[in-house]
Amino acid sequence: MQSQTASDAVDYAASIPNNVNLAADRRVLKALDRWHSTYLDWWRQMGPAGFQDALVYLRTAVGVGKDNWAKFDYVKMPEYRWGILLAPAVAERKIGFGDHKGEAVWREVPGEYRGMLRRLVVIQGDTEPASVEQQRYLGKTAPSLYDLRNLFQVNVEEARHLWAMVYLLQKYFGADGREESNELLSRRAGNRDKPRMLGAFNQETPDWLSFFMFTYFTDRDGKMQLESLAQSGFDPLSRTCRFMLTEEAHHMFVGESGICRVIERTCRAMVDAGIDDPHDIGAVRKLGVIDLPTLQKKANLHYSLSLDLFGAELSTNAANAFSAGIKGRYREDKIDDDHRLTGDTYPTLRLRAGRAVLVDEPALNALNMRLRDDYTVEAGRGLRRWNNIVEKCGIRFIFALPHAAFHRAIGEFAEVHTTPAGDLISEAQFNAGRGQWLPSAQDGEFIASLMKPQIEPGRYAGWIMPPKTGINRMPGEFEYVKIAS
Ligand SMILES: [Fe+2]
Ligand SMILES: [Fe+2]
Repeated sequence: MQSQTASDAVDYAASIPNNVNLAADRRVLKALDRWHSTYLDWWRQMGPAGFQDALVYLRTAVGVGKDNWAKFDYVKMPEYRWGILLAPAVAERKIGFGDHKGEAVWREVPGEYRGMLRRLVVIQGDTEPASVEQQRYLGKTAPSLYDLRNLFQVNVEEARHLWAMVYLLQKYFGADGREESNELLSRRAGNRDKPRMLGAFNQETPDWLSFFMFTYFTDRDGKMQLESLAQSGFDPLSRTCRFMLTEEAHHMFVGESGICRVIERTCRAMVDAGIDDPHDIGAVRKLGVIDLPTLQKKANLHYSLSLDLFGAELSTNAANAFSAGIKGRYREDKIDDDHRLTGDTYPTLRLRAGRAVLVDEPALNALNMRLRDDYTVEAGRGLRRWNNIVEKCGIRFIFALPHAAFHRAIGEFAEVHTTPAGDLISEAQFNAGRGQWLPSAQDGEFIASLMKPQIEPGRYAGWIMPPKTGINRMPGEFEYVKIAS
């Protein structure tokens, strides 16, 4: 049951658009105003390289309801209206899990969980600007204005997600929160001295295929994290994450549709040229499209990096956050159990006698494993669509997710090597097979050779299909980005 109150209305005229009545909150407004100028410096320094004066056809959030929450218009990115938007409050909402199940949700930070909450907000907040930094140079090689616009849409919204977390820090965590807010702007993706907090957010996003894989696999981890934080008993966090999820759907669409368009282009080119062996990489690449085995390797890389984001299979931190009522399971409110997990077990992937096997572990400790499983189910669904495209073209090739033990840096399998099928192998065997399983330098060079910008309205680079429909139902020739000369 949701009831929209007056406070849910968005004050769009304010310097910082918001629906949290910032105008009446002088302390936070002042802190955010100060942070805003540092933020803009960061955006100019680390946001999309070039294009700061381009007019981009962007979606901006102007409401928080289910419908009509966004408007589309041409905007210069530094002038984007980054706002603070919380999903409508749910009347008489109760904590749905853990030791406090059934109690009223918290509107202020519960003192005993302050440290835990701050850490979760900071980690989530750190990923948002990190991805903007990782994608900084992609604008220079966009396959179309449509794709360029989508990239920038994802970038401004990830930056808005940073605002969302910074608001929580400034509003609820006093001096520590201010300090953390500044730190969020001082770490840098991939920087040796001051890296971002999580591994996948320090990797490069060197080309558009990586961007699509990132938005498909890594933004989907983001979705899972936001879904479980949306269950939080700390209501401001829950409401913030619920609104972020509205935006997040588009990011995954960009990845999902982007990969499908690449696969379809490759398959059609193969059919037209009469090539039916997808492993004849030389012949396929001569057509100027990305061969299917390389796409599989990219998927292996981004899936395994994204699995690391779920943390160790067994985690007392995750157990504590659950028992505290701070971070729930994926769609906790739809699960039919006691929501306390005392005495429950969960089948957890463990390394036993040189093999990956499922072992029943206390469910409370296996929450990361469970969230990761939910993620894998979702990530796997898209691969069925990829395979449909290949099959329709009559090509014999099947995409598959690698085993969860493959190429891992965190958790149970961090210290061992496996094949994509999950069989344990030596380091030497892994190094020998690496080039078949993960993108090699040569694969990267080939993909880079295709990354030539295409900025004529309605035209697309040769390695990707045009989209089926335009953004906001715009026609094919629509000039999504007006690049300033
Ligand atoms: Fe985000
Ligand atoms: Fe995202």
